[in-house]
Amino acid sequence: MYDLKKLSIDEKITLLTGADSWRTESLNSKLRQVFVSDGPSGLRMMGDPSQEYGNTTKTATAMPTLSMIANTWNTDMAFLDGETIADDCVEKGADILLAPGVNIKRTPLNGRNFEYFSEDPFLAGTMAKSFIQGVQSKGVGTSLKHYLANNREYNRCWQTSEIDERTIREIYLKPFEIAISANPYTVMCSYNPINGVYASENKYFLKDVLRDDLGFKGTVISDWGAVYSPYKAHKATTDLQMPHDDNAFNDIKSAYEKGLILQDEIDFCVSNILKLIDRVESEQPKRKISYSVEKRHQNAVDIAKEGIVLLKNDGILPLNKGNIAVSGEMATENVITGGGGSAKVSSAFKQLPLTDLLNKENTNAKFHYVKDGRGINDDFVAWNLKKASMDFYNSDAVILCVTDYEEKEGKDRYSIKLPVLTEELILDAVKYNPNVIVCVYAGSSVDMSSWIDKVRAVVFVGFGGEGCQEALSSVLVGKTCPSGKLSETFPLSIQDTPTKTFRGNGFYETYSEGIFVGYRYYDLYKKEVLFPFGFGLSYASFEYSNVNVKKLSDTDFEVSFDIENTSDIDAKEVSEIYVKDVFSMVSRPEKELKAFSKNLIKARQKKTVKVNLDFSSFAYYNVSLKRWHVENGTFEILIGSSANDIKLKQKIEISLPDDTQQSQKGLE
Ligand code: GLC
Repeated sequence: MYDLKKLSIDEKITLLTGADSWRTESLNSKLRQVFVSDGPSGLRMMGDPSQEYGNTTKTATAMPTLSMIANTWNTDMAFLDGETIADDCVEKGADILLAPGVNIKRTPLNGRNFEYFSEDPFLAGTMAKSFIQGVQSKGVGTSLKHYLANNREYNRCWQTSEIDERTIREIYLKPFEIAISANPYTVMCSYNPINGVYASENKYFLKDVLRDDLGFKGTVISDWGAVYSPYKAHKATTDLQMPHDDNAFNDIKSAYEKGLILQDEIDFCVSNILKLIDRVESEQPKRKISYSVEKRHQNAVDIAKEGIVLLKNDGILPLNKGNIAVSGEMATENVITGGGGSAKVSSAFKQLPLTDLLNKENTNAKFHYVKDGRGINDDFVAWNLKKASMDFYNSDAVILCVTDYEEKEGKDRYSIKLPVLTEELILDAVKYNPNVIVCVYAGSSVDMSSWIDKVRAVVFVGFGGEGCQEALSSVLVGKTCPSGKLSETFPLSIQDTPTKTFRGNGFYETYSEGIFVGYRYYDLYKKEVLFPFGFGLSYASFEYSNVNVKKLSDTDFEVSFDIENTSDIDAKEVSEIYVKDVFSMVSRPEKELKAFSKNLIKARQKKTVKVNLDFSSFAYYNVSLKRWHVENGTFEILIGSSANDIKLKQKIEISLPDDTQQSQKGLE
């Protein structure tokens, strides 16, 4: 343990800001430096640690983005993802991985949605918890980010997220609350103000809530450049300012000399930094590489296979015969495997054309690439438009691999439609061939309404990392049965979403939809959607039966039900367990996800699935009581294969002791 008492006040103040872009201070080698590196889709490490955004010269395994990890609905995949990235961290010397991000996908326009898990706080927090456990199982730290309510890139450094207390607790804090139980080394505070106070200076959320309420015991690190006043940030208990700031020492020293920041306040932050250094050191023995580079790649493929979502299929898939045309830039070596910005990974893996992989599957189908030229991000150059059209016409089916191109840090999308020329490609292909399959590569929902009825199948590939093409090839020919489900709603139009295209006025954005985010919103207003939260098709078919809810205590229940695989292929099925508070003294969503389970069920076999519900499954945050509260009464347990496909229901009664309840006149 490093001893705080052995440090002078100047050494303490020096320690409060990074030594450079990626390392903590060593105080002239008195302390071990801690090396932090991005990111959520794989290790992004600068060639020169002092260079903040220089060329990322170090390569690493490009894993599926966290939005696709969520689409697996498989916590084992989240753990494996974390473990695999940690191997690259151990190999290249990163002590802490700046991930995972758990910001709620409040609007599909957010440019960084690919980096986040879900619109649902329970799914986001649960997957993040497993990811953190995976990374930290290898003695590599994590940074749970971006605390708090950083839900769009537009004006992220200036615009307040204005949110009521109950919404913050039930929606925006909840993923942090769940993930903190995995004991992340750090939490990263975000750029934006929350209710008028910058996250880095927000003592209520950093100390009273994060530490005192949620029990976070680690170190708060600022986002890069998210400290606007060093001494005020440390008073609010932002422990470590990143990256290095030349002005920080004088700012803090003069504030200290004027009595604006006290020694105790400085010591609080310094002790958290020393604890972090100690934890990194004590975890060194765990830092052992488990997977070869090849196995890390295979892990990326395996996870992508579980994250691919089959959205539409009239039976044309799996495709294993005929002469098949493949077109679209995503079928080439230029395939986009992740989003832009700090989550970008330099992969050494050489992408092969999708047609090569499809032909290697050795089915009776023969695949060839058709260069059309549309959809490419630059000016439209019509390459062989006639030749392409004739080729589509003469093929037995056409696979189009397309993307929205627009997902990166620092910039939101202006639309959730595909580029105009991409939609044109799809509509042209349909003109010449009735058997079109569209594969969409994106990190958030896409408005497919103008073409989806005209095609026979749609596969949502997500941003699947360096293994996405092998995974897609295996799914398309049926060697992998798709088992992914959407972790966010796909609306029919951006105009149907709670925020539409509104982005705030630069000063603030009021979260006026409150707790009604994602499927909670579409349920409340009974809005039709393109694809609901939790939706995903399979090549297999399942039947649900025999639900049973066993009461274990006042608010602990065991829910069991049977799933039968009524097909001839082994397959995995995701079951989603929602809870509905039938009568309540406050508005509550129609239903809320409170458990899920993914199970492999052999062909023609039946499996009994069991999940547990507890107090948190029934509670809402009561602002008057300033705590989570469960009202006695009737609840419904809803078991579904998606938010809009409830297969089984069971009513239960909760009757907690009277002294835990508030009066509910009119029930006598
Ligand atoms: C960026 C991102 C954050 C990242 C950090 C370091 O601005 O907001 O997620 O970890 O800076 O690159």
